[in-house]
Amino acid sequence: PPLRPFSIRLDRSSLELLPAGPVLTRRLSDLEGLFADEAAWRADVDNGDPIVYTVASSPVPETATELPQSITRIRPGDVAGELYFTKGHMHPVAEGEIYLGLEGEGGLLLFDGTDIEFLEITPDRIGYIPPGWAHRSVNVGSNDDYSFLAVYPGGAGHDYGWVLEHGFGARVYAGAAGAELRSYPQPAL
Ligand code: PA5
Ligand code: NI
Repeated sequence: PPLRPFSIRLDRSSLELLPAGPVLTRRLSDLEGLFADEAAWRADVDNGDPIVYTVASSPVPETATELPQSITRIRPGDVAGELYFTKGHMHPVAEGEIYLGLEGEGGLLLFDGTDIEFLEITPDRIGYIPPGWAHRSVNVGSNDDYSFLAVYPGGAGHDYGWVLEHGFGARVYAGAAGAELRSYPQPAL
């Protein structure tokens, strides 16, 4: 049945949507093949397989013409210095997306196959993801969770294979003076 108009509450202290929708939990084992240091990744998976991030969705379905929202919360942490991140994806139906920072310090890594962009997302900062840019979020804070709200067209889809094939052109590491973006050579597309 089509949705009726509704409102939900964003609890400012817990950053939960009320009433809560489905929550997806991504552990380190769900991020196979994405960290540079595979041996360190495997060791951390074997040693407790920590939660890296959760995605709490609103009740809006991912169907064309609808506009779903979700809140992603990334834990602080790293694998051999590479800061915890989301899997990252491309929207196969080229559509834009909006992020709004809620807590902590985040980085939004974007890659269109040629160019790399890295945006700082802190509370109350809005990041715009244009169509055709793969995107990955990184918790660049050392102790706190990084959370943000995402709003995206329900028909956009999520292509994770694109990221496995093309990467992001760069990785984000914990450095002495904060997060460090290190780009790497790209295979020809
Ligand atoms: O729509 C988005 O871009 C976000 O809500 C992401 O899906 C979320 O941050 C989780 O990242 P990923 O889907 O890459 O695992
Ligand atoms: Ni997206």
